[in-house]
Amino acid sequence: MDKLIITGGTALDGEIRVSGAKNAALPVLAAALLTDEPVTVCNLPHLKDITTMLELLGCLGVESIVDETMNVEVRAGGIRRLKAPYDLVRTMRASILVLGPLVARNGYAEVALPGGCGIGSRPVDLHLRGLAAMGADVEVEGGYIKVRTASRLKGARLFLDTVTVTGTENLMMAATLAEGETLIENAAREPEVVDLAECLIRMGADIEGHGTGTVRIRGKERLGGCTHAVLSDRIEASTYLVAAAATRGRIRLKEVEPALLEQVLAKLREAGAQISCGPDWIELDMQGERPRAVNLKTAPYPGMATDVQAQFTALNAVASGTGIITETIFENRFMHVLEMTRMGACIDVSGSSAVVKGVESLKAAPVMATDLRASASLVIAGLVAKGDTLIDRIYHIDRGYECIEEKLRQLGACIHRVPG
Ligand code: EPZ
Repeated sequence: MDKLIITGGTALDGEIRVSGAKNAALPVLAAALLTDEPVTVCNLPHLKDITTMLELLGCLGVESIVDETMNVEVRAGGIRRLKAPYDLVRTMRASILVLGPLVARNGYAEVALPGGCGIGSRPVDLHLRGLAAMGADVEVEGGYIKVRTASRLKGARLFLDTVTVTGTENLMMAATLAEGETLIENAAREPEVVDLAECLIRMGADIEGHGTGTVRIRGKERLGGCTHAVLSDRIEASTYLVAAAATRGRIRLKEVEPALLEQVLAKLREAGAQISCGPDWIELDMQGERPRAVNLKTAPYPGMATDVQAQFTALNAVASGTGIITETIFENRFMHVLEMTRMGACIDVSGSSAVVKGVESLKAAPVMATDLRASASLVIAGLVAKGDTLIDRIYHIDRGYECIEEKLRQLGACIHRVPG
């Protein structure tokens, strides 16, 4: 297993490009299952999760042609298999995104039931209840979700008890080919949901209200192909901004949408960062100063993303003062805290809150990545720690951060991959 070695202590300084968003690209690739015409997806990040999704589509009989700029043309004309096997689902929970499109277009799908994961139990009951309300028969047997419908799915009024991102995406995709109108209430408003809706509209879907809590979809008999460029990755962008702030450095991000990062930029300003933005760039400068600790509470968009919580925990760990981080989305998303404590951080977890008392500096230690964003937070901790931090199990990082060592080296960091 590859490891990362980071020699901490350098203030980040430089410019990098933000990649396409993993969590927008995955549903967009799944949406290609809704049509037999080619869908070309541009600005795809070069990541393990994207390869896994292409592998899953391939095992359903979908052809994908990758060109030299990493644009992928997906052709789902000859679907041969309607089953997402356990081996793929267990490596990537987002495999569940093929369920809605397969049932809507092919009348049947089997997807291995995703288990819990490092950050919580993560049920998919709302995806299944939504499909059942649209007239599908849903059963779970032998560890597989089996969904069938004898005729077209029927439009329905769906109220989601909890705001769910992939749940909203799955049901929105299913509804595009259903008979009649579907109303998804308490829908997720995340920019990645909006990006998917825009792709579906390009494919001919009739969708209104995406980006609000109520999405209205009028089903069509068929959808066609399109070309869609996925939006930039706001979580990747946030991770590098927080890393620059924690190291008292400077950074310029290009190919980013500042409007999608308002909450994060406000927190970073509170932490003492000077920030300026243009239409597609963001600059952050700490002017060599130590960050101030911030309080934050995660919430569905437009609230503070749970996917940046661990990174802010790392920032608070070396900030002046004490900050309270409260996680409201997942029940077990503080795995990074124990690892940071091994590096000298002073953090007490009580229920869903972590009270982080900033220390002057962290000390390098061997640590273990437990999930994608926890890994990113350990990289930040390594960047600010004295000595060489060795991060194990970095396959988590490769699932969601494109060329992380190259990008950090471009910013002046001393980071190396040790093949395992
Ligand atoms: C998406 O996961 C993201 N993944 C996650 O990103 C992100 O952390 C999460 O949304 C929250 O923003 C992708 O987009 C591929 P949810 P998702 O359904 O859709 C509960 C990363 O690091 N819930 O919005 O799986 C659930 O348990 C990842 O990139 C139900 O109770 O998350 C959780 O408490 C990790 N029943 C809450 O809703 C359901 O049927 C939100 O989860 C579905 C969800």
